[in-house]
Amino acid sequence: MKIGAELYRGKAKSVLDTDDADFVVMHFRDDTSAFDGEKKEQLARKGEVNNKFNAFVMQRLAAGGVPNHFERLLSSNESLVKRLQMIPIECVVRNITAGSICRRLGVAEGMDLNPPTFELFLKNDALHDPMVNEYHIRSFGWASDEEVARMKSLTFRANEILKAMFKDAGILLVDYKLEFGRFHGEVVLGDEFSPDGCRLWDAQTRNKLDKDRFRQGLGGVVEAYEEVARRLGVSL
Ligand code: TMP
Repeated sequence: MKIGAELYRGKAKSVLDTDDADFVVMHFRDDTSAFDGEKKEQLARKGEVNNKFNAFVMQRLAAGGVPNHFERLLSSNESLVKRLQMIPIECVVRNITAGSICRRLGVAEGMDLNPPTFELFLKNDALHDPMVNEYHIRSFGWASDEEVARMKSLTFRANEILKAMFKDAGILLVDYKLEFGRFHGEVVLGDEFSPDGCRLWDAQTRNKLDKDRFRQGLGGVVEAYEEVARRLGVSL
């Protein structure tokens, strides 16, 4: 398979064309961004760590019944993935309060949410990813009701698999964001799962092991991602 031009350049990843209609290449860069691109830095090794982390998690998710776009690792920074038509909606599950829900609802960080809560956001940096509901998605035609139901059930199925996986590594899965797309008419998980798009706390100390280290200027960002990878058994 031949790798072609850059089709899309996101804040941390690029999507490269291939000569196969069903596949594209996801290239993980070292670029790190927060606050919808306002804060940006290059963090050495981050692309490689996230590429390998994502490969590990996507394979676990597929084995647990969450169909996704991951095919195989191509190199330290690149993975072959299915060519999805992306749905511009971010699905967030929260097991513990942190981040925007604390600001929006005036609640303290660190409260257990039983049952976990679910939120939808429109993927639009210029608008700071506004929260939307299922009626917005229907009225503006971003996805069908069936697709939203499928995205929601797959996001919760992922929660069961991932919570257990991180628990065994002594880590709390606080919250995470997933993005989906269409592949031959089926809704499948796309984008990535890495510490860039979730919150992970050490179960004993509640130390942050995710992108909040970058957002909050705590330092040791990639070192924390590597620590999580090591505990999960991801080979780096
Ligand atoms: P939030 O607290 O900022 O709403 O984010 C909830 C979780 O989803 C957190 O783990 C970060 C992740 N997330 C992203 O990675 N990108 C996004 O654009 C959004 C809205 C959330």
